[in-house]
Amino acid sequence: MSAQDRARWDRRYADRGVPAPEAVGPAAVFEAFAELFPTSGHALDLACGPGTGAVWLARRGLRVVGVDVSEVAIEQARGLAMLSGVGHRCRFDLVDLDDGLPDGPAAHVIYCTRFRDSRLDAPMAARLAPGGLLAVSALGQSGGTAGRFRAAPGELRTAFACLEVLADGEADGLTWLLARRPERADGRD
Ligand SMILES: C[S@@+](CC[C@H](N)C(=O)[O-])C[C@H]1O[C@@H](n2cnc3c(N)ncnc32)[C@H](O)[C@@H]1O
Repeated sequence: MSAQDRARWDRRYADRGVPAPEAVGPAAVFEAFAELFPTSGHALDLACGPGTGAVWLARRGLRVVGVDVSEVAIEQARGLAMLSGVGHRCRFDLVDLDDGLPDGPAAHVIYCTRFRDSRLDAPMAARLAPGGLLAVSALGQSGGTAGRFRAAPGELRTAFACLEVLADGEADGLTWLLARRPERADGRD
């Protein structure tokens, strides 16, 4: 990412300030599925912003690594985790996902909301542990406008066709998908 774009994200987060602890929780589209998320294991939150999703996962009991390109967001996420009493279960790293996924163990949850880079699709699916959950959302074209950063209709289903789709949706300019990696390579649980 260019230094200019990074500075833009930093400014945006600095202007907003640290999120209130009440902001901790799943993205709205995943609220109805919150109980499907595991309560142990490893989670990876990609483009985690100020950590409201990552801290929610840590509060469920997962050990979470959150990554983002904005230093301000990473600092805010660390603060939010401490404030929420789960600092010991969270790590937040400054990572430019243009360089690909950071190394790490197989993940029981990969969480990536309101961020999309199709180059990461295959590495994300490969990083999931058997039975692991993928929760992704991105700007979509339905009800919104076409654009470079907007997922086309059906794009997430196609991108993650190797996973078992539990739920998905496209509305109001947002597209999302919740999917699970089969326990066995042949797709049988
Ligand atoms: C719309 S925000 C979403 C933040 C968070 N996932 C959420 O749902 O609240 C998009 C995030 O992507 C991050 N981002 C954009 N490009 C990135 C990149 N190349 N590498 C890592 N993070 C990036 C931004 O810093 C920002 O925090």
